[in-house]
Amino acid sequence: MARKFFVGGNFKLNPVSREQKKAIVKVLNEAELDDAVEVVIAPPSIYLLSLLELVRPSIKISAQNCYSKSSGAFTGEISAAQLVDAGVPYVILGHSERRTLFHETSEIVAEKTKAAVDAGLSVILCVGESLAEREAGVTAKVVESQLEPVIKLLNEKDWSNIVIAYEPVWAIGTGKVASPAQAQETHHDIRAYLSKAVSQDVAESTRIIYGGSVSAKNCKELATLPDVDGFLVGGASLKPEFVDIINSKKVA
Ligand code: PGA
Repeated sequence: MARKFFVGGNFKLNPVSREQKKAIVKVLNEAELDDAVEVVIAPPSIYLLSLLELVRPSIKISAQNCYSKSSGAFTGEISAAQLVDAGVPYVILGHSERRTLFHETSEIVAEKTKAAVDAGLSVILCVGESLAEREAGVTAKVVESQLEPVIKLLNEKDWSNIVIAYEPVWAIGTGKVASPAQAQETHHDIRAYLSKAVSQDVAESTRIIYGGSVSAKNCKELATLPDVDGFLVGGASLKPEFVDIINSKKVA
């Protein structure tokens, strides 16, 4: 089954003003985009509703987080059900910044993922190893241990709503992108693990995208790799070069 190329923009805690937001929207709305690519942008929650209105309909909107409970006494949280009700189709879960700065364990990420899928959201599920873990040669193990609790909670059919983002922590925001060989090897390992732990069908149909210092310069080569089905872009998604990354598969 062909996997549709996927490019996500993770805006993180940006833009910091409505003016900046307008400038980003202008670039995206006026650009010529490869229509064979699924494009999703993830702004901070305060901008979700306005971007749903302002951005061209071919670009989907994603939240950057949600809680595992649907309502109740959970100050500061936002639920999957609320996102669905607002018309937001995607959520990013398990980003390394949430795992490290906000202490989200793989079990918490798995619970959120299950709640999100049950509520009707699609999930961009992030995994990735630290520099020390890569240097110790345990990348595949680490990524598997992050996926395992999710695999335990999801049904096989739930996987049609999951995109896995492989994001080595040492490559996020550092300008140090994984080499094509490193990306391909880990994506291939993740697919092999899905095949063993879930099913061959899920392994073949699940998109595995790469994130970590993706730029207009390095995206073209990474996009040619057989197990790289797209990108999750942080810093560069706020700049006009995001358009070049979306179009990375397009032959000039
Ligand atoms: P980066 O971030 O592209 O700025 O490295 C990627 C991410 O954190 O999703």
